[in-house]
Amino acid sequence: TPDVTEGVEGEDGVRRRDFINIAAVSAAGVGGLAVLLPLVSQMAPSKDVLAESTTELDISSLDVGQSIKAVFRKQPIFVRRLTPAEIEAANAVNTSSLRDPQTLEERTKPGHESVLVVMGVCTHLGCVPLGAQEGENKGEFGGYFCPCHGSHYDTAARIRKGPAPSNLVVPDYEFTSDTTLVIG
Ligand code: FES
Repeated sequence: TPDVTEGVEGEDGVRRRDFINIAAVSAAGVGGLAVLLPLVSQMAPSKDVLAESTTELDISSLDVGQSIKAVFRKQPIFVRRLTPAEIEAANAVNTSSLRDPQTLEERTKPGHESVLVVMGVCTHLGCVPLGAQEGENKGEFGGYFCPCHGSHYDTAARIRKGPAPSNLVVPDYEFTSDTTLVIG
């Protein structure tokens, strides 16, 4: 009967629209993923890539009281040959009073206690701290100062004041000669 025919056509019409809607949503979803995936893979390099990347540094021309900045796994790294006064200041601190208790000796390599190697990434929210030798540094402890929210690090790059929860991170590294460091 005509009634039944109209009913069937009506249902078909609804199904066709549903299909078109579903297809449109799916296309948008695939398009979104296609945009998102490259971003995600850039932000999070695979573990294998990270494990393989090392940075070799020649510090033969690094004099006492000088620093160099390098890049390690796309992040800044600070290497400083501490002055006798900076070493003395670091060793004079009662470590039990520190927020993140560590001695200078624990943060350096045996036989190379005057060479401090740390990530240049504030442990609060990741800004790059300024070194003691930089003009605008307002740090109170002779090491590093983070201008973002005022974290002060001492000459062993240990957190002494401000919101950062822990010391600047010492990365994995080793001396492969007296003047060559391999980081990573
Ligand atoms: Fe350094 Fe906040 S990011 S103090």
